[in-house]
Amino acid sequence: MNNKLGHNLPSNPKETIERNIIRKIPILDREPQLFLGVPLPSWIELSLIDVCNRECSFCPKSDANIAPNTYMKMEIKLIEKMISDLKKIKFEGSFTMCGYGEPLLHPNILEITNLIGQFWGIEIVTNGDPLTKKKLIELYNSKVSKLVVSMYDGPEQIDKFTDMLNETNIPKDFMILRDRWHKGEEFSDYITNRAGTVTNGKQIEVKEMKDKKCFYPAYHVQLDWNGDMYLCPHDWQRRNPVGNIMQTDFFEIWNGKIHNKYRKMLFKGKRDELPCSTCNCAGTVHGSKHYIKWLQSWIK
Ligand SMILES: C[S@@+](CC[C@H](N)C(=O)[O-])C[C@H]1O[C@@H](n2cnc3c(N)ncnc32)[C@H](O)[C@@H]1O
Ligand code: SF4
Ligand code: SF4
Repeated sequence: MNNKLGHNLPSNPKETIERNIIRKIPILDREPQLFLGVPLPSWIELSLIDVCNRECSFCPKSDANIAPNTYMKMEIKLIEKMISDLKKIKFEGSFTMCGYGEPLLHPNILEITNLIGQFWGIEIVTNGDPLTKKKLIELYNSKVSKLVVSMYDGPEQIDKFTDMLNETNIPKDFMILRDRWHKGEEFSDYITNRAGTVTNGKQIEVKEMKDKKCFYPAYHVQLDWNGDMYLCPHDWQRRNPVGNIMQTDFFEIWNGKIHNKYRKMLFKGKRDELPCSTCNCAGTVHGSKHYIKWLQSWIK
């Protein structure tokens, strides 16, 4: 086992998650950037493609009634529109390509990362299945900053991905391996109910979270393949987008009425409306700096 390869510590998934949280503090909880006095997001998650080759039991993607494989994918013109909107507000945050499917299945992934990577950092979260040595080199050369591999099969995958990386000249810290093959009690440590769409494991009851604050809409942007923006990555119901970036300017949606209505509720610990009323996610792991900036911006 190579512990230098990111924060993987097989057989201790809780520690893997804690290390990931700590790793992301300087990115997500950077000093919030302001535009016209409004705090901007630090993290934009793109769902590039609405399909996955796996059906993990704890993921809504395994249930065709909730998240069917539609094969729909983000188009280059959407990426260009988003970049143009973000340049207008001088966005300084970073991107993650994760979302509601398997990002490496997007046929134009390299074109997309080359476009976005000219200006901002990019992390890709993948199940690793589409990875080959060639793909790994292409991704590294196409301005991807970090590749986070979720290993669902077992510890034997550590050697597989380590060997693949060692056959290239890519720096070792480019790839992070995460142990996600655990079952039983450990399994419950890393799942949430994805806004009421997943019931596996020993999860926290939704009613226990009813009056808990959530900071996701303070710093995080969730964009689906068609440009629909959602409150957070937990909303797998995808019934109520806060806007669509092909129709409306990015900043207008981010600082729009619907988004601010949710912020005002969630910052007081009111999870009364969908999707929040069905969610058991903690929601305050990151984002406290942005939360404070939002409160200050409303006072001004
Ligand atoms: C939906 S996947 C998309 C990217 C890629 N397919 C993968 O599995 O890494 C993104 C992340 O969500 C995690 N995930 C899926 N279902 C989850 C759940 N119910 N609770 C918490 N995390 C979950 C996955 O393990 C993965 O790390
Ligand atoms: S967790 Fe990732 S690999 Fe597993 S079904 Fe969901 S999207 Fe696919
Ligand atoms: S309460 Fe849950 S569904 Fe609502 S924004 Fe927070 S994480 Fe998302």
